[in-house]
Amino acid sequence: MLQPRSIERIPWTLQTRVHHTDPMESVRWGFLGAGWLVTARTADSLHQASNAELTAVGARDAARAASVNPTRAYASYQEVIDDPEIEAVYIALANDVHLHWILAALEAGKHVLCEKPMAMNAAQTRTAFEKAAEKGLMLVEAVWMRWHPRMRHIAELAKSGELGAMTGFEGRFTWETADAAPPGNYRFFPEYGGGALLDIGVYPLHALLACVPDMSKLEVVSSHRHLNEHGADLTTDITLSWGENTKAEITASFEQPATESMRIIFERGEISSLDNEGFCSLRETARVKINDEIEIFDAVDAYQLMFEAMSSRIRGGSDWVLSPAESIKVAEIVDDAVAKAE
Ligand SMILES: NC(=O)c1ccc[n+]([C@@H]2O[C@H](COP(=O)([O-])OP(=O)(O)OC[C@H]3O[C@@H](n4cnc5c(N)ncnc54)[C@H](OP(=O)(O)O)[C@@H]3O)[C@@H](O)[C@H]2O)c1
Repeated sequence: MLQPRSIERIPWTLQTRVHHTDPMESVRWGFLGAGWLVTARTADSLHQASNAELTAVGARDAARAASVNPTRAYASYQEVIDDPEIEAVYIALANDVHLHWILAALEAGKHVLCEKPMAMNAAQTRTAFEKAAEKGLMLVEAVWMRWHPRMRHIAELAKSGELGAMTGFEGRFTWETADAAPPGNYRFFPEYGGGALLDIGVYPLHALLACVPDMSKLEVVSSHRHLNEHGADLTTDITLSWGENTKAEITASFEQPATESMRIIFERGEISSLDNEGFCSLRETARVKINDEIEIFDAVDAYQLMFEAMSSRIRGGSDWVLSPAESIKVAEIVDDAVAKAE
């Protein structure tokens, strides 16, 4: 007769599977990196999430990792990945190392949420998604703005046809260099995936993709870049089109006064942001102008919504998450904008 086995004697891989079958249990997250974003924003958002727990954080400095109150802090990223309790890994490292750690985490059987931009270019982005598909695991780009109810509403309205065909899009995300990051930060070096386009230009690009009727038709018409002494773009302007009489203009800059604005033009009206409330709004009411009316959205934490949606999907839920196709298309546009730059 078969003897009942104690849970301690079941190999950890099986124990993990036992945990996976409980739809109510919080997903155990491991964070790679404890830089600005993690310490100032996302660790707290994860702590607030209803279905997730911050089980481990790894950083080059374990004390910094511990400062965001995980169950365990490690002095390396690999230890987080090797921790058998971790089910999902969130990558918040400098952009040049995203692909390496995405592949390492997927190889170890973890689902991955990776900060934007997913990788340095479209080829790397495709490699990452191919690995996720091969492993049967989730890989999602953490474009938090896309989980904000205001952005979801704008995209739905744009695609509904209520305002007629979409003909124009203007998106600007700009900062002064001093606000972008301290000198020496990876953002000012192209080899670390720096530059305004990868750092903040991806927000208007993702917003554009969320709204256009058919993103596969989007093409870069022209682009202009102003580089710093290291070759990172301080400003990138891109003009795109998705068919006759359509035009999108995107600006990302580290050398212009702070703006975050969006205007979407349709045959019968327009949707626009107010007072620089373009893309991101954290725990504050958010507004959008639709023709002459202003719609107001309750204060939410879109990072928290993002962690909750991904955790729910891991437990078998059907919550919306950003699609691989959108992440790949944005990466292709970025590559094209670099290739066509004058
Ligand atoms: N969604 C958003 O709202 C948002 C906002 C800001 C940034 N981001 C994204 O989040 C990521 C991190 O941004 P951040 O603002 O947190 O950057 P940051 O403060 O400069 O932190 C960079 C991170 O990279 C890690 N790193 C590893 N090797 C490094 C090296 N050789 N040099 C420098 N850093 C190294 C650091 O890890 P340790 O902690 O181990 O030292 C640190 O956690 C980027 O992908 C960025 O695009 C997203």
